[in-house]
Amino acid sequence: MSHSTATKMSRLVVCQLGPRLLSTSVSHVVRNETSGAIGHVKIPTLLGVRNFSASATGKAEEEPVTTNSDSQVDKAIVSYWGVAPTKITKEDGSAWKWNCFRPWETYKADVSIDVTKHHKPTNFMDKFAYWTVQALKVPTQLFFQRRHMCHAMLLETVAAVPGMVGGMLLHCKSLRRFEHSGGWIKALLEEAENERMHLMTFIDIAKPAWYERALVIAVQGVFVNAYFLAYVASPKLAHRMVGYLEEEAVISYTEFLKDLDNGSFENVPAPAIAIDYWRLPLDATLRDVITVIRADEAHHRDLNHYASDIQCQGHELKEAPAPIGYH
Ligand SMILES: [Fe+2]
Ligand SMILES: [Fe+2]
Repeated sequence: MSHSTATKMSRLVVCQLGPRLLSTSVSHVVRNETSGAIGHVKIPTLLGVRNFSASATGKAEEEPVTTNSDSQVDKAIVSYWGVAPTKITKEDGSAWKWNCFRPWETYKADVSIDVTKHHKPTNFMDKFAYWTVQALKVPTQLFFQRRHMCHAMLLETVAAVPGMVGGMLLHCKSLRRFEHSGGWIKALLEEAENERMHLMTFIDIAKPAWYERALVIAVQGVFVNAYFLAYVASPKLAHRMVGYLEEEAVISYTEFLKDLDNGSFENVPAPAIAIDYWRLPLDATLRDVITVIRADEAHHRDLNHYASDIQCQGHELKEAPAPIGYH
């Protein structure tokens, strides 16, 4: 290798890795709404802002930031391999403001779903799943008490994990065995996405404190690994456990609704993201949002108990068509 070629290659490597390894900022892709141009905005990562800043974890995704002439902003990318930024509009012709979901992913929740249903634990596995969830409930209730918003926000950071882990494991299984999944990969990923949208809604109303963010990081570190192992060992137990977790989610949102109705929690206007995602009326309130989220949780409850039942009856998930397209 000639000296000049080696110099060029080392310069290329430094150019590629340098900003990632050495920079004190995070680069985010943003789009200029008026020009359609894509650019990068750098966000400082001092003191762990990468993990602790709300702006670094979602705001840029939801609210396109206009690029400016600041020297920190990279040169705008007009097109990337011919993939032009899409211009999406609402039914009334106004611009669609959310990059994290599109109009065809919005839906009206089925609020007629039974929110009192309970799977009675009969065999050892059911009882183990039920009492594990009941045991986990005790410290949660002691910590949150009636701080519903904080409870809901942190609950959703956990609730969005099982669908993604289960979906990923079923995806790998499908590849490994050269077989279809019966739609269950999609159903579980839909659940995970739906739970994450619950979280995106709550962070528009309340901002987590630093110790809550730290708690989420610690809990996620444990829960992702624990659920992964549980799903590998026994998918039917893992789904049963999520079924019971969702039952508890329905109960906690019912308590939230009670406190909104008796005035001990202020019924603020619904965030814009919730109005668009659940196709709520423009004058919708937090009560409407909690009602549709509770309906979603009831759907997750039924989906997971059903997934467990299929396997408890000696079948594989792929044998039963998954309930996809709830929204
Ligand atoms: Fe949720
Ligand atoms: Fe849920």
